[in-house]
Amino acid sequence: MEMGFGYDGIKAVDPAKIRSMIAMAKEQLALAYAPYSGFYVAAALLCRDGSIYTGCNVENASYPAGNCAERTAVFKAVSEGRREFSCIVIIGGDAGKVETYCPPCGICRQVLREFCRPSEFLVILAKSEENYQVFSLEELLPESFGPESLGE
Ligand code: THU
Repeated sequence: MEMGFGYDGIKAVDPAKIRSMIAMAKEQLALAYAPYSGFYVAAALLCRDGSIYTGCNVENASYPAGNCAERTAVFKAVSEGRREFSCIVIIGGDAGKVETYCPPCGICRQVLREFCRPSEFLVILAKSEENYQVFSLEELLPESFGPESLGE
C-alpha cells in the first residue's frame, strides 16, 4: 500500500470513510464533462455533519467558463446549506484513467480555504481506494488569505 502522510490529522478521519469517499469519487468521474482537455476530475467533499457532496469538472466551449471538480463539490454543498467541511477526496486523469495523483489547482485551494481551518481540513489525493496521499490544506496553501484576514 502506497500512502503519503503529509499530515498527522489523517487519524481524525476514519480510513473506511476515506475508502468509501474514494469509491464515490471514482463513480463521479464518469460524469465529468471534459471534451476540451480530455482530463477528467472528480471530488467527494465530507461535511462536518457527515453528509458528502461529489463534484466533477464541467468544461465549456468558452474555456475560462469551465469549473473544476472541487469547486463543483463545494458550491453544491454550500448551496445546500453546508459550510463546515472535514476533508475532500480528489481523483483524476487523462481520458478518465487515474494513473497519477491530481492535486487541486490554486483557485480551488483558495475556495476551500474560505470554509475551513487550513490546519485541520484534509486534502486527500487518491489513485485508488488503497493508494492515497493526505495533506492539510495549510501544507498546500501556506500563509493563506481568508475571511479572518478582512477583520471583523
Ligand atoms: N481540473 C479540476 O477539475 N481540478 C483541479 O484542481 C485541476 C484541474 C480540471 C479543469 C479542467 O477541466 C481540466 O481539469 C484540465 O485542466
